[in-house]
Amino acid sequence: MDKLIIQGGKKLEGEINISGAKNSALPILFATMLTDADVVLENVPKLMDIYGAISIIEYLGKKVVWLGNTLKIVSSKSIPKEGKYVVAPYDLIRKMRASFLISGVLLAKNKNIKVALPGGCAIGVRPVDIHISAFEQLGCKHYLQEGYVVFNREKLNSAKVKFKYPSVGATENVMLLASGIDGETIIENAAQEPEIVDLANFLKKIGVKIVGDGSNKISIYGAKKFNNTKIVHRIIPDRIETGTYVIAVSATKGEVILKNVIFQHNKTLIKKLKSCGIKIFLENNSIYIKSTKKIKSKNIVTSPYPGFPTDLQAQFMVLMSLSKGKSVIKETVFENRFVHAAELQRMGANIRIKGNSAYIYGVEKLIGCPVMVSDLRAGAALVIAGLAAEGKTIINRIYHLDRGYEMLEQKLSKLGANIKRIK
Ligand code: UD1
Repeated sequence: MDKLIIQGGKKLEGEINISGAKNSALPILFATMLTDADVVLENVPKLMDIYGAISIIEYLGKKVVWLGNTLKIVSSKSIPKEGKYVVAPYDLIRKMRASFLISGVLLAKNKNIKVALPGGCAIGVRPVDIHISAFEQLGCKHYLQEGYVVFNREKLNSAKVKFKYPSVGATENVMLLASGIDGETIIENAAQEPEIVDLANFLKKIGVKIVGDGSNKISIYGAKKFNNTKIVHRIIPDRIETGTYVIAVSATKGEVILKNVIFQHNKTLIKKLKSCGIKIFLENNSIYIKSTKKIKSKNIVTSPYPGFPTDLQAQFMVLMSLSKGKSVIKETVFENRFVHAAELQRMGANIRIKGNSAYIYGVEKLIGCPVMVSDLRAGAALVIAGLAAEGKTIINRIYHLDRGYEMLEQKLSKLGANIKRIK
């Protein structure tokens, strides 16, 4: 298994480009299944999760060709069926929880489908009850069979669906299903993440009318006929990759310009980092970051957008470990998202976990050692810790990182980091 070796203690300096957003590209890749039109997706990051989504749509009849970071997607064959069912098989679904979004897309156009139920993961159980109860309200019956959710429907009906929690995945899945429903489907307590707006913008291009995306109430008027002329769409920049680099620069006391960003998507993080004493300037599509010797400690509570993103919580914990004073991080989105704390403690961080809160007492320095990645963002946190630490950090199980950070070592090396991958 590959490992990353980081010789820490170097300030990050220079400039790099931010890649396209994984979490936008995934639902949009699935959404291409709604149309027979040729689709060109620009700014798609080359990541394991993206390759996983491509395998699913290729299995279901699309042909996908890479040209740099652009994907050309065409329909090449009809959707395979097992009896009356379109099946999204376990081997393709299991690698990534977002694959469950294929259920909304398939149900928009097919009456009988079976989709493997994704499992839990290191950060929690991650159920799909919100998706399924919304589907039921829109006319889909379901039952579980041998690890698959079997959905059967006759005519879909529009409805007002009220979520008990603004789940990102459920909002996307219902938008995808509602794209095939005649009439107005309303999602109340919808997620407001920028990736929802990007998906809506793509769906609008294929003929779906959507109002309210980006707010907590979204109306979707399905397309009677999907647009069949060529569609070009550019994926938004990855706000979590952006935030990860902003924190990495802050933790290494560096000075960097990040290009190709939409800084409005990182407003909450930027405001918080400014209050920690980091200098941040925004210009056009760039963010300039200059760190400070004395990072002030600040508290955060993770929450759905526009709150502080759970996907940057682990990285922020590293920064707070190197701050002056005590900070509290409260995680409200996932039930088990402090696995990285134990690894950070092995590097010398002083962190106490109590329920869904982490109490962090800043230390003078972290010291490199071998560590193990438990999930994607925990991996990003350990990389930042390794960059900021004294000595050598060996990061194991980096396949998690390959799911979500395009050209990580190359980008960090460009900024002067001493980082290499060994096979
Ligand atoms: C998406 C992101 C992920 C991010 C998360 C929260 C993608 C591919 N992934 O994940 O990076 O960390 O949003 O910002 O976009 N829940 C239920 N029932 C459901 C669905 C969710 O209880 O049916 C719970 C989850 O267990 C979790 C919380 O709701 O505790 C948030 O999950 P959700 O917003 O659905 O996250 P994902 O879409 O899985």
